[in-house]
Amino acid sequence: MNLTFQILSGAILRISVCGREVNMSKELVVVIDFGGQYNQLVARRVRECNVYCEIYSYKTDLEKIRAMRPRGIILTGGPNSCYEKNAPTCSPELFRLGVPVLGLCYGAQLMSLVLGGRVERADAKEYGKTEVHVDNASPLFADVPEDTICWMSHNDYIAQMAPGFRAIATTANCPVAAAECAEKRLYAIQFHPEVLHTVEGSKMLYNFVRGICGCGGDWRMDSFVEESVKNIREKVGEGKVLLALSGGVDSSVAAGLLSRAVGRQLTCVFVDHGLLRKNEGDEVEAIFGEGGQFDLHFIRVNAQQRYYGKLAGVTEPEKKRKIIGEEFIRVFEEEAKKIGTVDFLAQGTIYPDVVESGLGGESAVIKSHHNVGGLPDYVDFKEIIEPLRNLFKDEVRKVGLELGIPEKLVFRQPFPGPGLGVRIVGEVTAEKVRIVQDADAIYREEIANAGLDREMNQYFAALTNMRSVGVMGDERTYDYAVALRAVKTVDFMTAEAAEIPFEVLQKVMSRIINEVKGVNRVLYDLTSKPPGTIELE
Ligand code: XMP
Repeated sequence: MNLTFQILSGAILRISVCGREVNMSKELVVVIDFGGQYNQLVARRVRECNVYCEIYSYKTDLEKIRAMRPRGIILTGGPNSCYEKNAPTCSPELFRLGVPVLGLCYGAQLMSLVLGGRVERADAKEYGKTEVHVDNASPLFADVPEDTICWMSHNDYIAQMAPGFRAIATTANCPVAAAECAEKRLYAIQFHPEVLHTVEGSKMLYNFVRGICGCGGDWRMDSFVEESVKNIREKVGEGKVLLALSGGVDSSVAAGLLSRAVGRQLTCVFVDHGLLRKNEGDEVEAIFGEGGQFDLHFIRVNAQQRYYGKLAGVTEPEKKRKIIGEEFIRVFEEEAKKIGTVDFLAQGTIYPDVVESGLGGESAVIKSHHNVGGLPDYVDFKEIIEPLRNLFKDEVRKVGLELGIPEKLVFRQPFPGPGLGVRIVGEVTAEKVRIVQDADAIYREEIANAGLDREMNQYFAALTNMRSVGVMGDERTYDYAVALRAVKTVDFMTAEAAEIPFEVLQKVMSRIINEVKGVNRVLYDLTSKPPGTIELE
């Protein structure tokens, strides 16, 4: 028998038997993706039940799924009608693996159709929060109140259940809002338990993965750290590892984890491009630099002047982004050359990067980190190491806390790779960077003082390229206008401007105008995305 061992970057040890991968060490739930907009959310909710899961395309070979020995399978929603020609489908064999299956929305309809039921277009489309009556004698609804609110979004409905199924939930318009074939442990739910609007949704998913599938819940971040450290040590041996540290959450947590595993075999290169938030460069150095809490080799490159030089006179947003990105690679490359050949290039890639690149865990193609795109071509290394490749952002944060990285850094809001370069409209100068850094620091301080920092997903000050006339004391001024931005968003693809109490905005305005030289006007950006974007450039 041909046996090969592979330690994946996450905690999962896979043993390949005659070329087939078998998951040996963990409970695994497989989420089969039919193109639904909530597929990542399904996986995240399952992980919140301390059960590890991975997302695979519906096109994945059934034998591959069987070989993973999943404890349960979840079929996600999707935009199609399952009875249409060429609609995404699955083999009836999937339901004969002896593994519990839960179908959600499209997945529920598909399960019914494939097993001999009927799915039709509904007379009344259901969308939004809907009252559902559930039979809580079903293990899927254990401890769920009989009347509860769920999130519906469907045009089709299960007109006739497959043989062996019984209805376990109904709504005013939907006779089969959920169905079960308890004997075969097959469950179909028309609504979306993964969406927070489904009040008892997390409990339903918990009932499925922990109750019906019998998972004990062995996916925990403390054991993730322990196992990853062990796996990284085995993989790296005496080798040298190089990581580009941006100071963002992902690369910082990757640095913490690698440092715990291989200590000074790790070199982190931190490029201060002069477009970071106020004091950010020093904060990153205090944590990761010499004398900080991590054992690693830290190189800070102060490239501020070099960047300002390259950006002088450049006003076109895409050109600015390109210069900042390319310069990053140049600086990193120069540092890497000084170090010589490294064995491993580490990246802070996380699971959404993998899923969004369409890989869905199906292949080992490497997506370069969006902040350091193109790096692998420039650095002489043997292999890429991505210790966070299997984690969602909230899991990355938990790992960060496990590693003792300060909360301030772990809960840092997203910050774009090109930094303040895209928050200064038009030409970037050292003076404008100073203005936006100071204004942003005041804004963040006041938002935190008002206890609003966890209420918004992203907020920052930006510098418009507009100067206008004002009066200060008895003097005429002709200074810049600062724009305050704050958004609420789930996925950063769409966003709404956050409602900040007027008195907080006024306080921020007053402090910025009094404390930041060069500013005489403060504006609040009300634009949603679309039509706006979150950043100004
Ligand atoms: P936009 O401005 O496109 O931003 O609405 C959406 C989210 O992405 C972040 N962003 C970036 N992140 N490199 C990054 O790593 C970039 O070039 C970049 N541009 C925008 C932005 O901060 C927001 O969270």
